[in-house]
Amino acid sequence: MPKIAIIGAGFVGSLTAMRIVESGLADVVLIDKQEGLAAGKALDLGQATAFFPQAASVSGGSRLELAAGAQVVVITAGFARAPGMNRLDLLRKNSEIVREVVAGLKEIAPDSILLVVTNPLDEMSYLAWRASGFPSERIMGMAGMLDAARYRFFAASALGALPASVQALVMGTHGEGMIPLSRGASVSGTPLGELLSSDEIALAEERTVKGGAEIVSLLKSGSAHFAPSAAIFSMLQNILLDEGRIMTASVLLQGEYGLRDIFLGVPVRLGNSGVREIIELELSEEESKALQAAALSTAAKLEDLGLG
Ligand code: 2OP
Repeated sequence: MPKIAIIGAGFVGSLTAMRIVESGLADVVLIDKQEGLAAGKALDLGQATAFFPQAASVSGGSRLELAAGAQVVVITAGFARAPGMNRLDLLRKNSEIVREVVAGLKEIAPDSILLVVTNPLDEMSYLAWRASGFPSERIMGMAGMLDAARYRFFAASALGALPASVQALVMGTHGEGMIPLSRGASVSGTPLGELLSSDEIALAEERTVKGGAEIVSLLKSGSAHFAPSAAIFSMLQNILLDEGRIMTASVLLQGEYGLRDIFLGVPVRLGNSGVREIIELELSEEESKALQAAALSTAAKLEDLGLG
């Protein structure tokens, strides 16, 4: 059975653990600095497996050494957004956490694939790459699948269709530089533009871009976790089962899309080696400009961190 380590036993980390363990995809070790939190959640989840014959095993603790032997490490540790706080406010707080975790993983799980979830996503993915020294194929950030799920949900709601029947691609950053590629969206093969008005599509796009903030302001404390954990789980299946499915992930661009030394959400083919291939789409001038702008804003944030 493969092993997945999850760093951070908050809502996103523990729900991800639940999806993995109950489906039997991999054994899980849940790790959190807060003494007792990961161990308690692992014990609780372990007891739930009595109801799931296919379930895998789960353990938990506070020591990073528990990640040894993991094929994939999911990094969710960090502060969540508070109401009124944008992803940028998190930059300094979370960079210290990610830097420390990754420095440890470099020794403890040197062959692992790192799946970064901590916000601000694209910058934290870049930081994980720099701090680990891992080949870039083994570092990716989860955002595009979540953002696309939100788009699919809003478009499906407007249509009265099932979200699973809507296909969509959302590129760029996990933030203001998000680029929903509506021209490629479809419902069971029918272009979305033939089913929804441009106003309805614009609304779905707007709610997608602000999707995380809308949930944060409703919850008052904490941020989204059901859809994020589902998106992480789908990427983990793709990786561990070596499915080779195309998904959007934040990955290092080295010349693709005319960009270099930056992590941005683009379509990639995943497998058990990590990022197997970066798919370079033909973008319109407007889309290309939006991607350049997203790259510039991410680069400015990295500059703030002294990583420019
Ligand atoms: C979200 O988009 C907070 O990034 C998280 O829900």
